[in-house]
Amino acid sequence: MTVEKSKQKIITVDGPSGVGKGTICLLLSHQLGWPVLDSGALYRLTATAAMNDGISEDNHLALEKIAVELDVRFESTANGLRYLLRNEDVSETIRQEATGNMASKVAAVEGVRAALLDKQRSLATTDGLIADGRDMGTVVFPDAPLKIYLTASAEERAERRYKQLKDKGIDVNIRDLVADLTARDERDSNRKVAPLKPAEDAVIIDTTDLSVAEVEARVLQLAQQLFS
Ligand code: C5P
Repeated sequence: MTVEKSKQKIITVDGPSGVGKGTICLLLSHQLGWPVLDSGALYRLTATAAMNDGISEDNHLALEKIAVELDVRFESTANGLRYLLRNEDVSETIRQEATGNMASKVAAVEGVRAALLDKQRSLATTDGLIADGRDMGTVVFPDAPLKIYLTASAEERAERRYKQLKDKGIDVNIRDLVADLTARDERDSNRKVAPLKPAEDAVIIDTTDLSVAEVEARVLQLAQQLFS
C-alpha cells in the first residue's frame, strides 16, 4: 500500500459490531497520545434520548430533532469517559444491547446522520484523532491519511462480545448475540446513507485469527510509517 505522508493526523478505524475497534482505538490512543472519537456513542446517545422520550424508530423527523438538539457532555474519569445526557449519567445505559440495536435503527435516518456529521468533524484537531465507527473513512474523514477496516467472522465477534459482557457480570445467550450482531450488520451495510463498507483506500485486516496485540502492532507500524 502506498499512502502519501500527510500533516493531517487522523486514523479512521471502521468495521462491523464487536470486531474490537474500541479496544484497538484505546490502545492506539495510549501509544500515540491522540484522543478517540467514539462515533457509535453519539448514535447510542441519540437512541437513548429517543427511547427516554418514547419516540419510535419510524418517526424520522422527531429523531432528527433529537440529534440536532442532542444535549451531551463527556467527562474524563479514571475509568474512561462518562457520558452525560441532559445532565444524567447514561454511561452504562448506552452500552446495553437494546441501546445498540436502537442506535443502528436511528443511524439509518439521513437527518440524524447529517446532524451528527459536524459534531464529529469538529472533534478533529491538529493534535491527532483516532476515529472509531462505520463511516469514518468513507464519509466523515474521507481525507484521513490512514484508514483501517477491521473484520472478523460473526461467530468470533459474538464470542468476543460474550466474553466482554460476561466479565461485566452480564449473562447473555451466545446464539442471541450472533443473531443480534448479524441483524445489526445487515442494517448497517444495507442502509442508503453511509453504509458500512471499507473505503477504497482502507487497509483491511481480518482479525479472526489475530490477537489484539498483533492487530495493534500492524496498525502501529502503518501509523509510524506515516506520522513519525
Ligand atoms: O460502534 P457501536 O456499536 O457503538 O455503534 C452503535 C451503532 O451506531 C452501530 O450499530 C451503527 O448502526 C451506528 N453507527 C453508525 N456510524 C458510526 C458509528 C456507529 O452508523 N460511525
